[in-house]
Amino acid sequence: MVRTTIARTLATLALGAGSLMGVQLAATQSASAQALSISCGAVGVELELCKAGVEAWSKDKDVEVEIVSTPNSSTERLALYQQILAAQGDDIDILQIDVVWPGVLAPHLVDMRAHNADAGTGHFEALIDNNTVDGKLLALPWWTDAGVLYYRADLLEKYGFEPPTTWAQMTDAAKTIMEKERAAGDDDLWGYVWQGKSYEGLTCDALEWVDSYGGGAIVNAEGEVTINNPKAVEALEMAASWVGDITPQGVLNYDEEASRGVFQSGNAVFMRNWPYAWALAQGDDSPIKGKVGVVALPKGGEDGGHTGTLGGWNLAVSKYSKNPDLAVDLALFLTSQAQQKQRAISSSYNPTYPELYADAAVLEANPFFGTLEETFTNAVARPSAVVGDKYNRVSSQFWSAVHGVLAGQQEAGPALAGLESSLTRLGRRGRW
Ligand code: GLC
Repeated sequence: MVRTTIARTLATLALGAGSLMGVQLAATQSASAQALSISCGAVGVELELCKAGVEAWSKDKDVEVEIVSTPNSSTERLALYQQILAAQGDDIDILQIDVVWPGVLAPHLVDMRAHNADAGTGHFEALIDNNTVDGKLLALPWWTDAGVLYYRADLLEKYGFEPPTTWAQMTDAAKTIMEKERAAGDDDLWGYVWQGKSYEGLTCDALEWVDSYGGGAIVNAEGEVTINNPKAVEALEMAASWVGDITPQGVLNYDEEASRGVFQSGNAVFMRNWPYAWALAQGDDSPIKGKVGVVALPKGGEDGGHTGTLGGWNLAVSKYSKNPDLAVDLALFLTSQAQQKQRAISSSYNPTYPELYADAAVLEANPFFGTLEETFTNAVARPSAVVGDKYNRVSSQFWSAVHGVLAGQQEAGPALAGLESSLTRLGRRGRW
């Protein structure tokens, strides 16, 4: 017998941290032989999907499963996990963890293969490598992500624009369409929305700008800090020029859902987001249903490249779990090919099994999974593997520097020079 009701706020879990007040925990209502708890995100339909998956697994089992809804911001979610895990509490057995966290959370996670020798088979090898620390498979890939460009196909067609392949083309189309539509009375329309809040999402967006210009990935594979270079400066200057022009000033406080809100209500020509926004934009209640296209993010000039930051989420099991075998079993079920196929078709979550990219039903629901296969397989990784447990500090310094540039507090050049010295110190001159 299983209950997965999602209900009251559990203040004790948040340990008083103001930013974590949104945490909710399912109420366990009946005594049962075994109990498990799983944390899930709540961006878009994540929580509903998590609940449906847990229900499918538990229908013939005598297990009580609690679903813990965690903050939308990856940054706040990590802070919550770090508090819980530092206390070595068994509050959460299964943790939904970001692709950049295996190194950060490694000491607290079980080796999946110690509980099931087949764990991890069939997924993209690169994701399994990412989740393997010191030979231990610490998390199972649940879905993968890469940033993509959404556009209003109807508006581009109306004004004679093709989907852009460079940022300059995107900026030009965004500005022209915004100005003409505003002149015709659509005062709320903006050209381009993205994630500019001071958090992990900004690291993802900014890495895409920098990489699209050929400006590297903040720290290279040898551990050298590479971010202070002219291409990165050019990329940040471009992004700063959008703010207050084609992009609302409010973007400095936008996360994924805020930008989706603007785009999906018909108030933006272009949006940078992850693939989950596709199914929602195409939903029956969406004002822009049937009017949206998806392409790879533009290149930074003719010599630049199309790119997308590698994102994605995984399921890990806490070392402090009292039921690790059962927890691994649930994680294996949720990350299975059959479950991922359903999630891809209903809600456009990118599978982590190469085979599903040749599946007709998956491709029919998400045509861009086929056309953008290159983007998904060659996405640019944040430097989490090389900087290991220092990743969150590296990322927060990067997004803070970028946020300052976007807000007009500092020029890109000096901001990146300052970031370089501070990251070089943090990384002990490449030894990390
Ligand atoms: C998405 C990505 C994740 C990233 C986050 C940033 O959820 O999948 O990897 O860290 O966005 O907001």
